[in-house]
Amino acid sequence: MKVIGIETSCDETGVAIYDAKDGLIADLLYSQIGIHQKFGGVVPEMASRDHIRKTLPMVSQALAIAGCTKDDIDAIAYTAGPGLVGALLVGASIAKSLAMAWQVPALGIHHMEGHLLAATMTLEPPQYPFVALLVSGGHTQLMECTAHGQYVLLGESVDDAAGEAFDKVAKMLGLGYPGGPEIARVAEQGDHKRFTFPRPMTRKPGLNFSFSGLKTYVMNTVNDIDVVSEQDIADIACAFQDAVVDTIRIKCGRALKQTGLNQLVIAGGVSANTQLREVLDREDGFHLYYPAQSLCTDNGAMIAYAGYLRFIKGQADTLDIKVHPRWPMDELEAM
Ligand code: KG4
Ligand code: ZN
Repeated sequence: MKVIGIETSCDETGVAIYDAKDGLIADLLYSQIGIHQKFGGVVPEMASRDHIRKTLPMVSQALAIAGCTKDDIDAIAYTAGPGLVGALLVGASIAKSLAMAWQVPALGIHHMEGHLLAATMTLEPPQYPFVALLVSGGHTQLMECTAHGQYVLLGESVDDAAGEAFDKVAKMLGLGYPGGPEIARVAEQGDHKRFTFPRPMTRKPGLNFSFSGLKTYVMNTVNDIDVVSEQDIADIACAFQDAVVDTIRIKCGRALKQTGLNQLVIAGGVSANTQLREVLDREDGFHLYYPAQSLCTDNGAMIAYAGYLRFIKGQADTLDIKVHPRWPMDELEAM
């Protein structure tokens, strides 16, 4: 059984094929970073137009790489949300059109469930129930995952997502886009002791996050230094990363304690952060799971895999084209 996955929710076109027996047999990713970089963020209309150019050729290429034809494909999975409405509509329209032509079902997949399930694509996956921290450019959420498709929101960011904060701070420091990998790179040369930034919302009880004040704190620090040198940038990036990672560590510990669970899954773009993985790995009392580096940021593989898991459990969508730019994960159908 083979499921093709199409991801077009933001600035990456991903197309992959997941085979029940052989796992990933094609995994293609095209990043639009070159298009959006000069604007310091994603320009939605340009993103949609580029997905239109790239998706179908990538579908043909994925079939060729996997050594199969359209007749071997049993279902088409596409990202139905959350994300940019125009970009989502491109993937949804292509998926539904192919489904009609190839006479197979097309399944709308929740992008964040794709991120989550990417962390379970291993030989020894976590067993439900577990706590998941989903950290990306648009989301910072702690979820209690009781079964496939059954998610209870424990806490989330009340303002910026962690990835968004990385991107904005990188911009303030004159670093490139996306900011997460850039901050992580320059922070390696930083002095951990020079600045200590606040760990927002850790003194109050609760599992929500807030990164907007931390961002302002960084801006004030930059403004306080007359001439910002390379070392200053490294030290600020380092203090910022320390603060985000430490805040996440505290909140994850709290979520595990509150739920009484002993498995933590981290997923989404920010879960690629090495320091975050190392700090959580050093904590006691729970098992940590995270996706392979290549599966942390947006990709088609996670959509193909999430689609495969829903297809074998009987999810069947109609052929009308529906996308959900905002889509709370706890509204998903339990499998
Ligand atoms: O999951 P993702 O690719 O897209 C969304 O669904 O939003 O996440 C992208 C986010 C960006 O904000 C990017 O800066 C961040 O993930 N990111 C990182 C790292 N790699 C990507 N943040 C911190 N450290 C990283 N190594
Ligand atoms: Zn994502």
